[in-house]
Amino acid sequence: MVSIGDRLSAETGRDEIREAAVAIVRHANPFHPTFGRPPHTLAGRDEAMRRCRAAMSAGPDHPDYSMLLKGPRGSGKTVLLAAVRDMAEQNGLATVRVTAKPEPTFADALIEQVTSASDAERRRVSSAQISVLGSGAGVSFRAPESRELSVHTRMLDAMEHLADRAQRNGKGALITIDEFHNANIAALRDFAHALQDVAKIDGKPVMFVGAGLPSMEETALADQGMTFFQRIARTQLDPLSPEESAEALRAPIEAAGGTIGDEALTTAAAATSGYPFMVQLVGYHSWERCADPGGAITPDDVRAAIGAATGDMEVQVFAPMVRDLSDTDRLVLDAMSAFDLPEIKLSDVARAAGKTSNYLSVYIERLREAGVIDRPARGRVRFVHATMRDWLQRQRVERGAAVGGSGRPETTTTVKERIIATCRSNPEATHAAIAARVGTSPDYVGRVRRADSTSSREP
Ligand SMILES: Nc1ncnc2c1ncn2[C@@H]1O[C@H](COP(=O)(O)OP(=O)(O)O)[C@@H](O)[C@H]1O
Ligand SMILES: [Mg+2]
Repeated sequence: MVSIGDRLSAETGRDEIREAAVAIVRHANPFHPTFGRPPHTLAGRDEAMRRCRAAMSAGPDHPDYSMLLKGPRGSGKTVLLAAVRDMAEQNGLATVRVTAKPEPTFADALIEQVTSASDAERRRVSSAQISVLGSGAGVSFRAPESRELSVHTRMLDAMEHLADRAQRNGKGALITIDEFHNANIAALRDFAHALQDVAKIDGKPVMFVGAGLPSMEETALADQGMTFFQRIARTQLDPLSPEESAEALRAPIEAAGGTIGDEALTTAAAATSGYPFMVQLVGYHSWERCADPGGAITPDDVRAAIGAATGDMEVQVFAPMVRDLSDTDRLVLDAMSAFDLPEIKLSDVARAAGKTSNYLSVYIERLREAGVIDRPARGRVRFVHATMRDWLQRQRVERGAAVGGSGRPETTTTVKERIIATCRSNPEATHAAIAARVGTSPDYVGRVRRADSTSSREP
């Protein structure tokens, strides 16, 4: 049978027309390998959603009323936050959505968002009253702009307004902060204080869910002023099980009018290692490789898709992951990549890195927290993403380092620059918090910091 596209292209001699016609007939790809983009099927997050739902209906005394989601890049934090916000909005809560930034302006952004949510709450109440009374529509009252007041006071003020209005509306409010690990420490401290005041002490219905990289425990949350956040509930976004990955692949394919056989599905799910971003990549490329998804995605389509997805992972996940690490963290990874084994003995890694196991233990722990490596057994490590090893090896060759050598040497200048930059963007963070973020000792941070503040005061 000749398709409309073929007939058009035969009549006009234009292949673009045929391609366009085929594209219209073909269903749109149901996968979205884009950070922050909600998936068709949010797999494996029922328990986290259940906890949030329970907290939302129970109120400020529920242990999960303030919560932090932790997971590596691409584990689905942003989309889970969005799902929790959707649930809140469906239940009539006012929602505030902010993404943390290391600059002090993060405090203003937070105050502004809280204020505008509380204004919206106020309008909701007054429009309900106005429809009864029939006058004064749209008059909005705003506290005088008072920049001269401290951030601390303005934050508390904004939060109290929101809490009061949310309480009067009877539904409450939800504040979400994404990229929590990246937050300006001083702003976070003021926010912690205000949230503790309204929700924990006054018992007003302002719920909080933050999300960030696991490393936030040693960075943003290591600060002395963070006891509130140190004590709140945690949810770790664990990898999806093979069944959950399979479901996250199968459901969107079938909803878009396609099919996938058992062998192809099992191969695809296994290749994701339960990593949500990889689920989207493998699903996306499988759909694209398949000439006719309606006629079933084959194991061959999936195998080709896994190759393409792996390439995307390198650019979109591995490279940014490594960019955020300290020099010694990278030294550990380079040492690990010299071994072609699924699991590596810590003592072998230490030898390859030219350090003692004891010295490396803090870096190993942080790489584990960042979701780059894990510890399958005592004294052993492995890459979370097995394909990261090949990529690191290629990177080393490209950098001109001999494979099996001790990797990139740590230079004091780069560490120093990182300390100075981190201190300047977090002027109130403790030496220990900066040290953990940069991967050095608190003493050294103290010395660099004193030297920096002396030299920046000189004319
Ligand atoms: N539970 C899930 N099931 C299927 N796909 C998911 C799931 N969680 C996230 N994804 C997909 O993974 C990708 C990364 O999600 P995102 O929330 O941006 O991760 P993070 O914020 O942790 O970096 C997105 O394409 C998203 O659609
Ligand atoms: Mg995110």
